[in-house]
Amino acid sequence: DKGNHRHFMQKEIYEQPVVVAQTLRSYLRPLEAQVALPDIEFDLSSVERVVVVACGTASYVGMIGKYWIEQLARIPVEVDVASEYRYRDPVLLPNTLGLVISQSGETADTLAALRHMKAAGVTTGGIINVPTSSMAREVDLLLPTHAGPEIGVASTKAFTCQLAVMAALATNLARAKGRLADEADVVEHLQHVPEAMSMALAHDAEIEAMAPKIAAARDVLYLGRGPEFPLALEGALKLKEISYIHAEGYASGEMKHGPIALIDEQVPLIVIAPSGPLFDKTVSNMQEAQARGAQVVLISDAEGIAQAGENTIATIEMPKVHPLIAPLVYAVPVQLLAYHVAVAKGTDVDQPRNLAKSVTVE
Ligand code: M6R
Repeated sequence: DKGNHRHFMQKEIYEQPVVVAQTLRSYLRPLEAQVALPDIEFDLSSVERVVVVACGTASYVGMIGKYWIEQLARIPVEVDVASEYRYRDPVLLPNTLGLVISQSGETADTLAALRHMKAAGVTTGGIINVPTSSMAREVDLLLPTHAGPEIGVASTKAFTCQLAVMAALATNLARAKGRLADEADVVEHLQHVPEAMSMALAHDAEIEAMAPKIAAARDVLYLGRGPEFPLALEGALKLKEISYIHAEGYASGEMKHGPIALIDEQVPLIVIAPSGPLFDKTVSNMQEAQARGAQVVLISDAEGIAQAGENTIATIEMPKVHPLIAPLVYAVPVQLLAYHVAVAKGTDVDQPRNLAKSVTVE
């Protein structure tokens, strides 16, 4: 049932403050100021490396997790798409945590990668949404998301719930490694996510209003740095799959290594850039593109927009949030933009052509 919503995707975008809160509830113990993992009988301090394997949107959660786990816990993280991982004879060292991420828990390549890791003898974990799925049954450590059923083929609420669990895992690894300075602080940031997501949703009408401009484009580029780089990839994937507009995400610093050659007045550039230490660098990449005529949509907070919002075709103002939670909050406008562009183009948002919700064949 779509309720008041026109599409399941729209409903699922709107559900995020609630389902992310629901997911976080099983990972946060606010009274103890602790981030916990459910019933884990496994010594996380023995983890010396993490290998994340997933497909599509779930693989971007892995990439964002790499930034978090490496920064907070100082444990090296490798991320791979499952279709490559399972066939490339990967090296699995002892004391590796093999982590799969999947909404359905049935994606054929991810399931095969999980079985490969189990056969190699490493401990496996899974961030999984469907509790009765094959992966949920087969992983050693189940880290559930509580997004509820996701119907839209384009993953939205599963993505942000996976990020919430990933943040909890990164925090727990950091504690296990004796590197967590202020856990209460992390709890506070994570607890702020649902409210910040609601504030992001309040920009829906503005995003809808700018969608026709993007809908007219043939190509769209997304830029981000740090944890916002995988979010740029996610934005591009979302736009491609439901609006059929060609889109690519790039790490901002890669622009001058090739993609800037694509820039002209016809190419919208979606820049995902919360203010903070990486902001100036991203903005200078953005300005290089603007000098070549790029039509920029800047997604930032008030401070970022005040500094760099000029000469853009639109800005979308996010609340000022801690860098740890920025990918969850900035995911909202990225999803809404893809949604409204697809609606403007009149494509089938919930059942895009050529795609299946769950890819159970290779
Ligand atoms: O069920 P899974 O999370 O394993 O699915 C992985 C991908 O097939 C999925 O995220 C896909 O990329 C979505 N259509 C993205 O919106």
